[in-house]
Amino acid sequence: MSLKPEISSDFPFESRYIQLLGSRMHYIEEGTGDPVLFLHGNPTWSYLWRNIIPHVSSRARCIALDLIGMGKSDKLDLEYRFFDHVRYVEGFIERMDLQNITLVIHDWGSGLGFHYAMRHPENIKGLAFMEAFLGPLDWDRFPGPKKEIFQSFRTPEVGWDIIVNQNIFIEKVLPGSVAWELTEAELDHYREPFLDPESRTPIWRWPNELPIEGEPEDVNQAVVTYSRQLQESEVPKLLFHGEPGVLISAPIVEWSLKHLKNFEVVNIGPGIHYIQEDNPHLIGKELGNWYDRLTG
Ligand code: BEZ
Repeated sequence: MSLKPEISSDFPFESRYIQLLGSRMHYIEEGTGDPVLFLHGNPTWSYLWRNIIPHVSSRARCIALDLIGMGKSDKLDLEYRFFDHVRYVEGFIERMDLQNITLVIHDWGSGLGFHYAMRHPENIKGLAFMEAFLGPLDWDRFPGPKKEIFQSFRTPEVGWDIIVNQNIFIEKVLPGSVAWELTEAELDHYREPFLDPESRTPIWRWPNELPIEGEPEDVNQAVVTYSRQLQESEVPKLLFHGEPGVLISAPIVEWSLKHLKNFEVVNIGPGIHYIQEDNPHLIGKELGNWYDRLTG
């Protein structure tokens, strides 16, 4: 029986903003050197990386961005489709003039990160990922009740009601996808950007963008393309996975060992989907050690 590691709920970072495409994007930044860009997924924000960044910021310029409409970034009248986020993330990378980037990516941050990395391999030093989409999905990848829940998210009206009106993603999916119990203080940080139901459109959109059994077609095509490139890529790669995981379960770890080059794996022990809340210090230490090996 494992014990819950010491996990701080504090977010001791100075907020920074950049004006992009007429909107403000929020990010945090610590350290100097080549950039390590942290990209979160649904429904989180840069808060997710708070206990990991201190392990890496003595070695690199760590930047954690809040996706548009999420965290402390501006909320817009936008569809919040995958390709909307692509414009903002890639605009951010260009505006900040980030070069020789190491991406640390999770959930939808992984879709965005892989999509960028495979189209700009000359600008990527390394790729660290966790609970990521390495390729298109099918319904069997969603264990037990998660399959039914995600199917209802993708049923119009039902999905909108339970995500936007009832706030199920924040109140149930998030705490239910961490091996330990999140504290009220932690949950409050995750609730904060989405107190108003009108702000929850991006949370609703994400599960509807998941490339499951070929739909939606445009996102599926982007994921098929980066998945193929990822299998050819020589960029150094590091996978963190928890037990049992969701998107990265034992068979996907096996698949990755067989199909990815220049690839290392770290098992963090008990972990579901938000593994940064399961074992952040192990992830931070291993990420720092791998980063040292990358830079030689
Ligand atoms: C997702 O947003 O992709 C996700 C969230 C929780 C569990 C599994 C997947």
